[in-house]
Amino acid sequence: MSSPAAMTDVQLRISDDPAAEVGALLAASALAGETIVLTGGSAVGEAYEHAAELKDWSAASVWWGDERCVPATDELSNYALAKRTLLDRLDGQSDVHRIRGELAPAEAAAEYERELEGVELDLLLLGLGSDGHVASLFAGSPQLAERERLVTSGPAGLEPWVDRVTLTLPVLLAAPRTVFLVAGSDKAEAVARAFAGPITDEVPATLLRQGDGPIVAYLDRAAASLL
Ligand code: 6PG
Repeated sequence: MSSPAAMTDVQLRISDDPAAEVGALLAASALAGETIVLTGGSAVGEAYEHAAELKDWSAASVWWGDERCVPATDELSNYALAKRTLLDRLDGQSDVHRIRGELAPAEAAAEYERELEGVELDLLLLGLGSDGHVASLFAGSPQLAERERLVTSGPAGLEPWVDRVTLTLPVLLAAPRTVFLVAGSDKAEAVARAFAGPITDEVPATLLRQGDGPIVAYLDRAAASLL
């Protein structure tokens, strides 16, 4: 599928320390009592550490855009990453809604969908795969084609090769505000395709530009080098 023009242009913020900027943004969102969707991957842990400078996240509601199907204590778990870098560093409780990766994938997806029903998300944080995937929506997968469900599950299209549970494209598109954090030269090609290339199913991240909400991509100079 392709579209003649992007409906939402991606605002690019290129800096030496995008993780610090995203961390500050997450903390501001938490302070404002927003419903925040976290992600996994290599870049976001540093942002979570910055976000943990705000010690009181009690007003916020924390969700995940996707999860690897592993126990919550596994080092591959997106929840474990956020727990280690953010949640464990906070004072007091916050309202945390994790995807239970220890369940069978379809069961975890169904459970998370029930929990998500009727919830309005404020801020969607995403990484970008080197293949252009976003959340756990991989090119050519049935998960990417899902339009009815809020949450779905299936095999990974890239390492780590563990099954995934993911929000579907309609849910991602409904987010009123989307923020990408992408770092490293190995992401430069994907960044150019995702944020400046044509909208196509071959690069799932481009599909986010079909939504109405603003998208801001925080990039380091290496990730932005092919723009
Ligand atoms: C995951 C993520 C995924 C991630 C990108 C970027 O569970 O893998 O949620 O969508 O954000 O793949 O991750 P890397 O920075 O590790 O490539």
